Amino acid sequence: MTATIVLTGIGELTTNDPELGTLHDAAIVLDGDRVAWVGPSRQAPAADFQLGVMGGAVLPGFVDSHAHLVFAGDRAAEFAARMAGEPYTGGGIRTTVAATRAADDDTLRLGVARLVREAQRQGTTTIEIKSGYGLTVADEERSLRVAREYTAETTFLGAHVVPAGADPDAYTALVCDEMLAACAPHARWVDVFCERGAFDADQCRAILNAGHDAGLGMRLHANQLGHGPGVQLAVELGCASADHCTYLSDDDIAALAGGDTIATFLPATDFSTRQPYPDARRLLAAGGRAALASNCNPGSSYTTSIPFCIALAVRDMNMTIDEAIWAATAGGAAALRRVDIGIVSTGARADLVVLETDNPIDFVYRPGVPLIASTIIGGSTF
Ligand code: NIG
Repeated sequence: MTATIVLTGIGELTTNDPELGTLHDAAIVLDGDRVAWVGPSRQAPAADFQLGVMGGAVLPGFVDSHAHLVFAGDRAAEFAARMAGEPYTGGGIRTTVAATRAADDDTLRLGVARLVREAQRQGTTTIEIKSGYGLTVADEERSLRVAREYTAETTFLGAHVVPAGADPDAYTALVCDEMLAACAPHARWVDVFCERGAFDADQCRAILNAGHDAGLGMRLHANQLGHGPGVQLAVELGCASADHCTYLSDDDIAALAGGDTIATFLPATDFSTRQPYPDARRLLAAGGRAALASNCNPGSSYTTSIPFCIALAVRDMNMTIDEAIWAATAGGAAALRRVDIGIVSTGARADLVVLETDNPIDFVYRPGVPLIASTIIGGSTF
């Protein structure tokens, strides 16, 4: 039998459960790694332990559905050059590939552990981790094996870029064949960087279809550096999410609104690469659904902070605070096709963020201030 814990004194509770909505003066009972009860404090059942949160706001734990954490080295010099006016092209990915291939397993493991801990301290309770800095059969397989030690949400991104000197079509064939066979046992998802200079629509289609045939769910890096076929391809193939979406045409918006694919916005990338921010309002007004994720990686977005992404989404992408919080919790869950996370309701995973403040607008109003009092992951306080 597991011990039960009742969280009391919750000033404002965002549940994302349409029947419960937002509750004030609420309580939650946790039983092991699940939520057992949610409702007004005065009706809370007895539990083995009580945890008072002193009027703080409580949210579902953040679901970071896009991160590249298996790498070695950093690219601070490339970032500094960008701040001095250099454009971001994705070319630096190969620098990280060289450093990652040269690193031993424990170096990669320690790097992932450090970033996962950092994310958890900022309220993230589920994180997706991609490969993509190996680009050989052995190095991609190793990256996914390491990622699997930290999350069930692992993504095979052998098609991140074409390795230096390789023929694009021959490399695509390798990804679809030998590399996929080695990586699929360690992955839940397959992903491709669909962009000029990376993989074109035909290559993306071939890789995603091969991944799907191998039992993986599909997601796609789409429309990061310019307009292109990525978003519409993601919707056509039924990808769980189209990620970046920095450039969205009216047709892209219509496709997203009419399909089942989540648009995963990565505003920390637009911040770090000095790209324009996408206007999320256009998508939401058309009926599309959005997620917010960190895209933590050493090149285009070296942050694990979902609170920072929320602040950018509200200030620069025309989202309301409620929409941004939904996108960082339930939206991330939908982008991972999960119904047990991103929500506070009976039976859901006991993944919660307790804030120091009673008002989540403080993520934007008080930017950069540490507002996370504690992160609860599977019922355990972190
Ligand atoms: O999502 N776009 C492709 N991949 C990463 C960038 C990785 C890097 O620059 O190292 C992204 O932004």
